[in-house]
Amino acid sequence: MKTIRKIASLRETLRAWRHAGQTVALVPTLGNLHQGHISLVELARRQADRIVVSVFVNPTQFGPGEDYQAYPRTLDHDRRRLTRAGAELLFAPAVEEMYPRAEDAGTVVSVPGLSSILCGEFRPGHFDGVASVVSRLFNIVQPDVAVFGQKDYQQLTIIRRLQADLHYPVAIVAGPTLREADGLALSSRNQYLSPAERRLAPVLYRAVSECGDRLRAGARDYAALEAHGKATLVAAGFRPDYFSIRNAHGLQPAQIMDRHLVVLVAAHLGRARLIDNQLVER
Ligand code: PAF
Repeated sequence: MKTIRKIASLRETLRAWRHAGQTVALVPTLGNLHQGHISLVELARRQADRIVVSVFVNPTQFGPGEDYQAYPRTLDHDRRRLTRAGAELLFAPAVEEMYPRAEDAGTVVSVPGLSSILCGEFRPGHFDGVASVVSRLFNIVQPDVAVFGQKDYQQLTIIRRLQADLHYPVAIVAGPTLREADGLALSSRNQYLSPAERRLAPVLYRAVSECGDRLRAGARDYAALEAHGKATLVAAGFRPDYFSIRNAHGLQPAQIMDRHLVVLVAAHLGRARLIDNQLVER
């Protein structure tokens, strides 16, 4: 597997692939790859001839006081995992390559509405950072397909909107959330959990699943379900940001007639901020 750090040389390789009639899938990541990321690479493998994985800890999506400096950077480990998974190319640019202006991060891409609710309310500017870096990656790689994990459902919704609004000729494919045996969604941030917190962490998944089960069984008192979910988390020692039942397409608060719902949660446990979600069809 080739590792490329410069946009110009990435484009040269991509040009050769395209010239040979090959299609390209992009899997954007922050690195510190775990099996969840590898499952996205495997999904990409089924969608295109060639796979580009980007590893870039994107500074613009971290707010003041968040874990940008501490975020685990494990490029050698990532390279080994990607080689085993059969990715052709690792794109690992420096910050200056992605954001060349010395004064500031330059053009901001913003998806209004969706970016300021749920996680956006608690992490102002986060989704502008995500949309800005994903737009840059789409422009640099010009992939036929881009694969994102469903674990960050709000991010996935924002990227779908971005793709549609800006007419990017790329198919957005969602990869299912991978979980530990006890239900905890795989995440790089799980490593911030102490052993005691790690034992508690699956309560997040259980609370979301219980809410999903009740909705499928016909429960309609959304406010009561949300309050119960939040109380379950508080009782277990979490500090929830939100526990919310939304329309799965636009992430608006769920209405009685909505058939496609998503239960979304974000909560702090010790140093870790964990997110999870569950889709509900009824
Ligand atoms: O989900 C992530 O890992 C990041 O937000 C992404 C999409 C790679 C953008 O930096």
